[in-house]
Amino acid sequence: MHLSLFAAHRLIIVQMHISVQIEGLTTLSSTKSPPIEGGNAQGLSALSLSIADITLDPPVLLAPMAGITDLPFRRLVARFGAGLVVSEMVASQEMVEAKASVRARAELGFGEQATAVQIAGREAHWMAEAARIAAGQGARIIDINMGCPAKKVTGGLSGSALMRDPDHALRLIEAVVGAVDVPVTLKTRLGWDDDCLNAPDLAKRAEAAGIQMVTIHGRTRCQFYKSVADWPAIRAVKSAVTIPVIANGDIIDAPSAIQALRCSGADGVMVGRGIQGAPWLLAEIGHALYDTRAPVLPTGQDFTDMVADHYEDMLSFYGTALGAKVARKHLGWYMDAAATPRDLHKRILTEPEPTQVLALLPVALASDLRAVA
Ligand SMILES: Cc1cc2nc3c(=O)[nH]c(=O)nc-3n(C[C@H](O)[C@H](O)[C@H](O)COP(=O)(O)O)c2cc1C
Repeated sequence: MHLSLFAAHRLIIVQMHISVQIEGLTTLSSTKSPPIEGGNAQGLSALSLSIADITLDPPVLLAPMAGITDLPFRRLVARFGAGLVVSEMVASQEMVEAKASVRARAELGFGEQATAVQIAGREAHWMAEAARIAAGQGARIIDINMGCPAKKVTGGLSGSALMRDPDHALRLIEAVVGAVDVPVTLKTRLGWDDDCLNAPDLAKRAEAAGIQMVTIHGRTRCQFYKSVADWPAIRAVKSAVTIPVIANGDIIDAPSAIQALRCSGADGVMVGRGIQGAPWLLAEIGHALYDTRAPVLPTGQDFTDMVADHYEDMLSFYGTALGAKVARKHLGWYMDAAATPRDLHKRILTEPEPTQVLALLPVALASDLRAVA
């Protein structure tokens, strides 16, 4: 059997992690873990999480990812099973000013799945108003972004820049919590840089202000996405608060989810990049860790049908021209997973005509390794 580049990349990430995290555990005797097994993880955390009247079952959540976790993708992930799906970050002022493309990012469009809408900003009144609009449209949870490292966001002193100004961060949290009846959660990082690891303090103050769950990406802002996520460092946040803490960063499968939970003591996990090309991943992790219903992994024709349905959903959500462009990254990930030959891969990603793309997909995805596993 030959591994696709995609599978090999995943393997390298998890191996890096296991060695780095196990080294990190030498000073954390309570978290020393037995060999990683993909199966039963009983005793790691509660089987489900409740925030107010919302149950996150299993506590395996989809990370917000701008340009990726749009409504078509959230709908697909939710169909396989997920504890919670989170919208892409929505700029609060633009949302209030009703910019159509910005509101589309918060589009809910389906009612059966717990959906959080994530808002970002710097001004309390825009944040509060955006939260009111999202809750009014049916968001079950409002999540506040205090983790985005992008220069255009931190340059506007929002996202992770708020970690450098915790008093102002608290004013925003209070404004949002005061504006809506639905639970408000916070997603942030370990700190701004190694000299400012203030996530435990921020989380504690946020809890006092009414935040009901906090997700920590185990990196600082200055690390962006470099190095590996520091799961043991999330433990300090868990110790500082009584609300649920979710561990995030470099979780790509059940073994890495188990390891992240063991290292951090967190109550659940949030998965971002690992789900690209594998919308069943949360359900798979949920099944391995919490014995929830196993997803039926699409293989062969079913995989092609799933990809074609996702593609068509993107075309109808965005309109054909924009949808075809947005879809390219997802098609690329699906083709990576299926080890599509490079020339066909390229042809599909440069093909302007959607009907041609749909016609080529069965051939492109025929080498889907999972079909012969
Ligand atoms: C393309 C991309 C877009 C992202 N957009 C957001 C966002 O809108 N809001 C947010 O809080 N985090 C965002 N993130 C960060 C992820 O939610 C997550 O914290 C990070 O990718 C680490 O998790 P992972 O290793 O599982 O991907 C984004 C990450 C990526 C790669």
